[in-house]
Amino acid sequence: MPGSFTFHQPVKIVFGNGRVQQIRDFIPEKVKRILLVSEKNLAKYTSAVDIVTDQLHGIDVLHFLDVEENPSFETVEQARIIAGEHDCQLVIGIGGGSPMDTAKGVAMCATNRESLRDLINMDDLPAEPLPVICIPTTSGTGSEVTPYAVFTDRNSRKKCGYANAKIFPQVALVDPELTYTVPKPVIINTGMDALTHSIEAFLSADAFPMNDIFAIESIQLVLKNLKQAVIKDNEAMNRMAYASMLGGIAITHSGTILLHIMGYPLTVYQSIPHGKANAILLPAFLRFMREHSWVKEKVRFIDNMFIEAGGVEQFVNDLGISTRLSSYDIREEDIDKFVEKVIVKSDVKLTPARISKMEIAKIYRDAGC
Ligand SMILES: [Fe+2]
Repeated sequence: MPGSFTFHQPVKIVFGNGRVQQIRDFIPEKVKRILLVSEKNLAKYTSAVDIVTDQLHGIDVLHFLDVEENPSFETVEQARIIAGEHDCQLVIGIGGGSPMDTAKGVAMCATNRESLRDLINMDDLPAEPLPVICIPTTSGTGSEVTPYAVFTDRNSRKKCGYANAKIFPQVALVDPELTYTVPKPVIINTGMDALTHSIEAFLSADAFPMNDIFAIESIQLVLKNLKQAVIKDNEAMNRMAYASMLGGIAITHSGTILLHIMGYPLTVYQSIPHGKANAILLPAFLRFMREHSWVKEKVRFIDNMFIEAGGVEQFVNDLGISTRLSSYDIREEDIDKFVEKVIVKSDVKLTPARISKMEIAKIYRDAGC
């Protein structure tokens, strides 16, 4: 039974090698001033920012290249000032999840008076955001097709997720060639982000069969291609870009669940990259779900997909990632602090199992504290 569901994917997806050269085709005629949001480090391994800037000659393109990993509210506010001063009409985000999420944040702020902090706590946005074009240069976040953005509160050391259909990008320009020069650790970490998006979307209490098609295809593609992508096999990298985008569509409709939330404290306190944090906890999370979830059949389905790779733990370890928290200097006494950060997140309720502080602590302990 297909059940009852809503599938809403309003992003124009433009996929393929060399497609970034066509960006001009996706800029409305009336747009004369654009804010391009990216990060300085990107220039070390891809010329994406230059390619896009060259293609947009005749249009005023302002650059904001100060996005950090896990962008803060302050960073978005800085970019907003530039967008406001120059009356920008469109925002382009180029890079991984951080610049793309920042682009969404600026687009929201540019048309509204409130601060980003206030906007994300309101029921809805008073004014429509500016249009956004996202150009991913890593294969993992899927942010180019989602209505989500994650910002970090530097004071409280919390990651704040925001979801609103109004921040779907207008266009996702996915050109896999832009990912070819990404450093290997980034390929691994972002690839594991894509994989965990799809696993969590598939297991989510909000999952439905049509959305599962995207999640399953994405999981299979990552399992078959991530290791090859790490050794820079271009065809495998193309498939990873596709898998990441499919994972983005999957989480758009059924969200991420407990694993992602449990990964956040590892990033905030230990500076472990987002995708890697999820990978570290993945085996313990699946062990818990295998025993305690009410979607045991779906967990078995995932286990079967991992058989060829020698099981989930083997797959993660083969990528050079230890699945023991003690390897990252995380100790028993850190667990309570982590659990407090996790339990307040509303996404816990999308996890198809009984989740209380006790269960969360149990999973962290099982991951080797
Ligand atoms: Fe993620």
